[in-house]
Amino acid sequence: MVLEHGEILFNDPLSPDLYHLGLRCPEIASLVRPGQFLMVRIRRGDDPLLRRPLAVHQLSQPGGFEILYKVVGRGTRLLAETGRGVTLDILGPLGRGFELPEKDGPVLLVAGGIGIAPLPFLAETLVGSGRKGPYLLWFGGRTGQDLVCVRHFQDLGFVTELVTEDGSVGSKGLVTDHLEGWLSRRQERPSVIYSCGPYAMQRKMAHLAARLGVPVQIAMEALMACGVGACLGCSLRCRPPEGGTDPYYANVCQHGPVFRGEEIIWE
Ligand SMILES: Cc1cc2nc3c(=O)[nH]c(=O)nc-3n(C[C@H](O)[C@H](O)[C@H](O)COP(=O)(O)OP(=O)(O)OC[C@H]3O[C@@H](n4cnc5c(N)ncnc54)[C@H](O)[C@@H]3O)c2cc1C
Ligand code: FES
Repeated sequence: MVLEHGEILFNDPLSPDLYHLGLRCPEIASLVRPGQFLMVRIRRGDDPLLRRPLAVHQLSQPGGFEILYKVVGRGTRLLAETGRGVTLDILGPLGRGFELPEKDGPVLLVAGGIGIAPLPFLAETLVGSGRKGPYLLWFGGRTGQDLVCVRHFQDLGFVTELVTEDGSVGSKGLVTDHLEGWLSRRQERPSVIYSCGPYAMQRKMAHLAARLGVPVQIAMEALMACGVGACLGCSLRCRPPEGGTDPYYANVCQHGPVFRGEEIIWE
């Protein structure tokens, strides 16, 4: 983990509330792995006081990376107003990222809305590792505007299935419902599932994967103040570790943000 000043190279809107941020930040770029995250100080001074957790969307050369973020509140709104040339104080890389599969086999990525953010970096790393897929992405959003960077996955060789709640792009409904139906009609199971999205989607993916007997890695979100295991503000109730009897509270920032589906006690 290092503290680095990242220079903003671009900060472009992709839709009214989605932004694509490019940073030159060589040290963190050389260390970060897919699924890890950063704590970003949005502005100098103490307003906003707390850093905001953001995932690495993809690496870019030389010595940089990109972030995809959704404007949801004051911090991300201020970030959206910050222009090229400004430097951001960034702490990272943080947390436990995705583990790559040991063998070739079908790999399924599932994203809901802004949950797509860390997956291009994972997809590039999987494909770049030489492991043979096939690779699939199931991506759900409220409307077609949420379904960004699909082309990037297709260029990497992913088969993509799109689902929107309003039916404006792809199938209409919830991504988990369509995916469940599709999986139940197939003989071949994915060898691993990677999932990132809202809590209800993650819970459904954990249950579905358990029923199919497929390992699932889930990137969780939590409100975070410190990002390094000091404030205990991001705790997540987890099953007892092997041999133990009592549930325990993991820190999402430290023990995650990526968890195995069966580790979590779902509400
Ligand atoms: C490990 C991790 C990685 C993340 N990666 C990304 C990313 O790549 N792109 C992205 O757009 N967002 C990501 N987030 C969520 C992002 O951190 C929050 O949206 C952001 O901190 C909100 O800050 P704000 O000041 O704009 O909103 P606030 O004013 O702090 O909050 C506005 C609303 O957003 C909710 N909110 C705030 N923080 C979170 C959070 N961590 N999770 C869920 N809801 C939250 C609040 O409850 C509130 O309803 C990530 C979160 C975590 C924990
Ligand atoms: S954010 Fe402080 S312990 Fe996780």
